[in-house]
Amino acid sequence: MHNRNNITDKIFWVGTNDRRTTLFENYWPLPKGVAYNSYVILDEKIAIVDTVEKGTMDEYLDNITEVLDGRKADYLVINHMEPDHSGSIRSLVERYPDMKIVGNKKTFPMLERFYGIKENLLEVKEGDLIDLGKHKLNFYMVPMLHWPETMVTFETTQGILFSGDAFGAFGTLDGGIFDDELDLDYLDEEISRYYSNIVGKYGRPTQNALKKLAGLEIKMICATHGPIWRSHVADIIAKYDKWSQFKTDEGCVIVYSSMYGNTEKMADNIARQLVKKGIKKVRIHDSSKTHPSYIINDIFKYRGVILGSCAYNGDVFPTMETLINELEHMAIKDHVLGVFGSKSWGGGGLKRLNKFAEEIKWETIEATPEALCAPNSADFDACEALAEGMASRLKELYK
Ligand code: FEO
Repeated sequence: MHNRNNITDKIFWVGTNDRRTTLFENYWPLPKGVAYNSYVILDEKIAIVDTVEKGTMDEYLDNITEVLDGRKADYLVINHMEPDHSGSIRSLVERYPDMKIVGNKKTFPMLERFYGIKENLLEVKEGDLIDLGKHKLNFYMVPMLHWPETMVTFETTQGILFSGDAFGAFGTLDGGIFDDELDLDYLDEEISRYYSNIVGKYGRPTQNALKKLAGLEIKMICATHGPIWRSHVADIIAKYDKWSQFKTDEGCVIVYSSMYGNTEKMADNIARQLVKKGIKKVRIHDSSKTHPSYIINDIFKYRGVILGSCAYNGDVFPTMETLINELEHMAIKDHVLGVFGSKSWGGGGLKRLNKFAEEIKWETIEATPEALCAPNSADFDACEALAEGMASRLKELYK
């Protein structure tokens, strides 16, 4: 029984750690890996809650075999159909053909289209209950957290919320599964990066879900990624509440695109002026080096955002284009924006950033320096005006 990971005496973690995949959703970097969490509830009836990504399926099926110890699963609860959790459903169905698949009316069309499964379905609606014996499962719909079909499952007798992606994190579960067994300082960035990258677009649905679940007495949160929360339940809920309202701290993220260092010089100058004007939390990123994942994560932390780009073939630099497309796509709200750039003749970088400023509808700083070839002292004065505008606005907002 070496693989058994008890959550309670009858509930088990049967998930897997993935240290091999480099990009989550084939886009977001995974320097510390990711865990796919699945759970088994052993009772008169046995329920499995969610599955794992197919790449780690063999290990997963071994975990299930060990915990079920010759018994058969009665229910498979599908809280969320994204394939990082639904990827092993077909194998489970082959293994337990009589198992009822529990989902809602939006789950099943996806189940059929992804996996061709359309039998043994048990549809649940908001507030429905499944009685396993001692354990009782209640279901709550949380659409767009993270897909339209997403729901959460609440085990009422012990106050355990099986929350799907909500309250999840990047990072594998190294040696422990609970928040109080793991090094949360080490995982801190992976917790916020998971929120900002994966859930961040869905601030309003997250707020709706938090309101809906507020009345439940939640003692433990079993998400589909990251630690099981039992000692820091209130903390992780408070973080989600803050993040999903796009609440940020005093600070400024500067991102620049620079081919030969001239736009970079302007970024450094702006940063220096910001610090001199009392803004301590300044983060500078080179858009060609740092994946948008990390930049977006910083933007979810700090109110100020300053973007600078050289001109490139009459437009903005390609890696800045990627970043601003991503910011527009994620519809991040409530920031103060400054833009700057450089050009050697016709320009284009700053022009595109100004267009971005109009589209994203953030509050903007008036000064928009643009150097010709290399920045001169007038350009640095303009950089200082930009920094001054940003610093005084931030000070006003956080006084
Ligand atoms: Fe972890 Fe939206 O899947």
